[in-house]
Amino acid sequence: MKEKIQQYISEIQNTSIEKFNDKAAEVEMFRVKYLGKKGIISELFEEFKTVPNDKKKEMGQILNQLKTAAQQKIEEFKAFVEEQGDAGPALDLTRPTDFSVLGSRHPLSVVMNEIVDIFARIGFTVAESGEIEDDWHLFSALNFPPDHPARDMQDTFFVEKEEGKQEVALRTHTSSVQVRVMEHSKPPIRIIAPGRVFRNEAISARAHCIFHQVEALYVDKHVTFADLKQTLLYFAKEMFGEQTKIRLRPSYFPFTEPSAEMDISCNICGGKGCNICKGTGWLEILGCGMVDPNVLEACGIDSKEYTGFALGMGVERMAMLKYQIRDLRLYFENDLRFLRQFDGIV
Ligand code: DAH
Repeated sequence: MKEKIQQYISEIQNTSIEKFNDKAAEVEMFRVKYLGKKGIISELFEEFKTVPNDKKKEMGQILNQLKTAAQQKIEEFKAFVEEQGDAGPALDLTRPTDFSVLGSRHPLSVVMNEIVDIFARIGFTVAESGEIEDDWHLFSALNFPPDHPARDMQDTFFVEKEEGKQEVALRTHTSSVQVRVMEHSKPPIRIIAPGRVFRNEAISARAHCIFHQVEALYVDKHVTFADLKQTLLYFAKEMFGEQTKIRLRPSYFPFTEPSAEMDISCNICGGKGCNICKGTGWLEILGCGMVDPNVLEACGIDSKEYTGFALGMGVERMAMLKYQIRDLRLYFENDLRFLRQFDGIV
């Protein structure tokens, strides 16, 4: 018994309040453990009754020593808690926090949003439709002849291509959105259609099988090529800066007549000629034209009453020119060293 008591005494003396987390609560637990009704000391006093008379004096003294040690320790703890206040768990509130890493928008989203925004300012609203399309919306309604190469497996990912069945494919361009919109709404129509498109291409620095386009369509009474040209000039200046010049080159698309391709003056060399514009001073930006009357009719719009213009551009190319990105594959690899360069751009 004597040894046991001495062990308790040293245990009490070695207990330090520093180790307590919730100090007030643990001081109370400490008190109950030693001095509670069923605590260690009251049990020892029970045991004391059985101590032979000749040992009682010595044992009584040491037992009292234990009681005093426990009481003193508790007083000391209580004084400490009172002085410090009960700060609860030992937290250092002045420590710097771990900064949470914020993500950033993907450069393609940044550019796509910017294009949509520029057109929204002149009254265009966003239209969307599915990434899986049937032959009608992808090709036939857009005046593609039956033998057009885009209808070939070499160029298009077909989901269903069976004799006698309507062919279904991953859309090869966002021009299909034009058809969907015109089928279901009456002019005036002013839409902008951003989205993902798919083509059966080998992946390289300059080509990818998945990419993004933005399509715009305006159909109303008396829409002319002059409206198209002014819209293009406005867009080029908003996107690439006030000093930007545009030029239109005749081109061909099945769904527009006449068709054109638009170049902008090179925003890197200012038109003097550099390796980005291959010395020409011009950069090819988009395809456009007046909506072919066949397309209007296929979508149920009277081509004698209405005319329209359409344009379509590749988002990857716009972002490449805007941020001087040299390799298309960077967009899809999700390398954080690349993506972090767009931190803070909204
Ligand atoms: N759909 C064409 C493409 O994928 C882009 C295009 C060109 C869209 C001319 C148009 C347009 O609306 O008028 O290459």
